[in-house]
Amino acid sequence: MPVTAYAHTNIALVKYWGKRDDGGRGLNLPAVGSLSLTLDRFGTETTVELAPGHASDALTLDGTSRSGAELGRVTSFLDLVRQAAGKSDRVHVSSRNDVPTAAGLASSASGFCALAFAASRAFGLTLDERALSILARRGSGSAARSVFGGFVQLHLGTREDGEDCFAEQVPAALEARLVVVRCATGPKEVSSTFGMGHAQRTSPYFPAWVATHPADLVDAHAALAHGDLAKLGEVMEHSTLKMHATTFAARPPFFYWTPTTLAALAAVREVRARGTGAWATMDAGPHVKVLCAPADAAVVAASLAAVPGVLGVDVAAAGPGARIVRSGA
Ligand code: DP6
Repeated sequence: MPVTAYAHTNIALVKYWGKRDDGGRGLNLPAVGSLSLTLDRFGTETTVELAPGHASDALTLDGTSRSGAELGRVTSFLDLVRQAAGKSDRVHVSSRNDVPTAAGLASSASGFCALAFAASRAFGLTLDERALSILARRGSGSAARSVFGGFVQLHLGTREDGEDCFAEQVPAALEARLVVVRCATGPKEVSSTFGMGHAQRTSPYFPAWVATHPADLVDAHAALAHGDLAKLGEVMEHSTLKMHATTFAARPPFFYWTPTTLAALAAVREVRARGTGAWATMDAGPHVKVLCAPADAAVVAASLAAVPGVLGVDVAAAGPGARIVRSGA
């Protein structure tokens, strides 16, 4: 019976960047905790169907059959699910990203979250949300957070087996919007997995990133509890700029930003100078996401859309957690 799951993407306000040594056990444990907002748009719908008798898994992504490294990463993840279910069947995975075409915005967060949900159900496992987030984390750290809606934290945890490294929803006393500003087309050049590993190995700023990160999480949690959007925005910008600083100081260095990214950042500062609360964050790519109050979203979106080089803007609100869309033929 095919099982279809949908997961929205999430954007980290306090970033995950770097991994803890797990002795090569593939647990994908982060070096730092993180805090994100699950969006009400952009995501991945994934269908998993058992293919008994087949010798290998098959992957179709956005209508195209995939092989090589993409299929390899999915198969390795499916092996975890097969192991947990005590089954060996191969599967067909069909996945569709719900993002503006060719924007390079497709995320492993929604992808591995939807895959974890659909695959675990297809193999007969019924996981609670915590267990699902632990499973999704092993596919991609950020995927653990897309299990939940709204503001979400991924606990750093201390256990060697990673069982206390799970995501959880965070109650918040504020509402926000994220204006997603598309600054380039095409896939990113340096994947987040490679980028964070390279920065961790070679950047002298990486230890400072880890050392100063817990205070950002404390400040962000306080801002959410007190409904202080300005405080949340300020710590969010601080977190992303520190993360990107590790890439500038890596050897060799690498940069996710383009001239349009910088122009968008300048526009955010201008909006703020005019008295409207707006704060920027960037992930492992050139796009800028701008945090603002719901009432300011239209003004912020218009200001960013007018920046030369910007390809488009989308306003996102807090969205729900992952769900099973269909189960059965
Ligand atoms: C910059 O979750 O894609 O978006 O665990 O190696 O798959 P892997 O990394 P991934 O990294 C996300 C990095 C980030 C920040 C964040 O989402 O917290």
